[in-house]
Amino acid sequence: MPPRTSLTTRWDMWRYAPVMPLHDGETPVSLGEGLTPMLELPKLAREIGVARLWVKDEGLNPTASFKARGMSAAVTRARGLGVPGLVVPTAGNAGAALTAYGAAAGMPVRVYAPESTPKPILETIRTLGADLQLVAGHIGDAGKAARAFSNESGYFDVSTLREPYRIEGKKTMGLELAEQLGWRLPTHIIYPTGGGTGLIGMWKVFGELRDGGWLPKDVAMPHMVVAQAEGCAPIVRAFAAGQEKATPWENPTTHASGLRVPGPLGDRLILRALRESNGAAHAVSEDAIRAATLRLSRSSGADAAPEGGCALAVAEQLAAAGRIPKSAEVLVFNTGSGASYRF
Ligand SMILES: Cc1ncc(COP(=O)(O)O)c(C=O)c1O
Repeated sequence: MPPRTSLTTRWDMWRYAPVMPLHDGETPVSLGEGLTPMLELPKLAREIGVARLWVKDEGLNPTASFKARGMSAAVTRARGLGVPGLVVPTAGNAGAALTAYGAAAGMPVRVYAPESTPKPILETIRTLGADLQLVAGHIGDAGKAARAFSNESGYFDVSTLREPYRIEGKKTMGLELAEQLGWRLPTHIIYPTGGGTGLIGMWKVFGELRDGGWLPKDVAMPHMVVAQAEGCAPIVRAFAAGQEKATPWENPTTHASGLRVPGPLGDRLILRALRESNGAAHAVSEDAIRAATLRLSRSSGADAAPEGGCALAVAEQLAAAGRIPKSAEVLVFNTGSGASYRF
């Protein structure tokens, strides 16, 4: 790992280029992703009973979600490889992000999304020029269609964890929050988990930062906390049962559409990160998500997505139950923008 002084002066996630998978001569396909605000919320911290509370507002990324980070890294490499096009199955936001980065790279994009995907996200995908295919069912059904198309067309399949670059982009969330805190870490990170790449990427980079001397050797690693909806909680169920892998959730339902991932491919890696970090996994109701989405927005000014509301609801409930201590310094991820869900 290069030293911390090797950070670039770029003002986007490629500030961390020395620890990114950038090949010789490759320039990033970038739309100014990353470097999102981390807002401290002292009043809300007091109300829910923790020492400190922040929200990292990923809704301010290009196409309004953290998916921009992974797609910037993935499309950069795909362009370098000279693939004929890009295809992705999506719960919505990943499709919008891929479409934008495909447009920036001048590469054709095909997106498979459930019919139930929020309309503003589908309109973003259409507007930015992808070939949008609507699928009856959930993201797993979209995944089958995307793989079949990839096999017949040679388009590069950018599905979650089927290629290694998206996770490298998402690890920048971990780099950034460490830098924003002055190269230390919160005690708890609450992450709304669908496919889990964000959580896996952050956990990976915290270890790299410690071993590479960017964080003190004796730094206390955060407890990683999975937030899911009661209508689709395969990781919560598997973690509670002490399993190493998750059984797919039957009939997944939640209005936090990014969390409607019944069988995440990275289940083993997510569960391992939870065990290694002495973390937790908790699911909340649709009503709790709605209430916490408003509470998060109104107490921060960030336009929270339901996924961010889910993360706050988990923080509230775990703190109330004493499973997050009063001394905790808690970071909640708002992974998208409320505007994408209003229609
Ligand atoms: C807004 C939002 N939050 C969270 C997630 C879940 O992210 P991950 O797949 O990294 O668990 C998604 C995925 O679609 C999303 O769109």
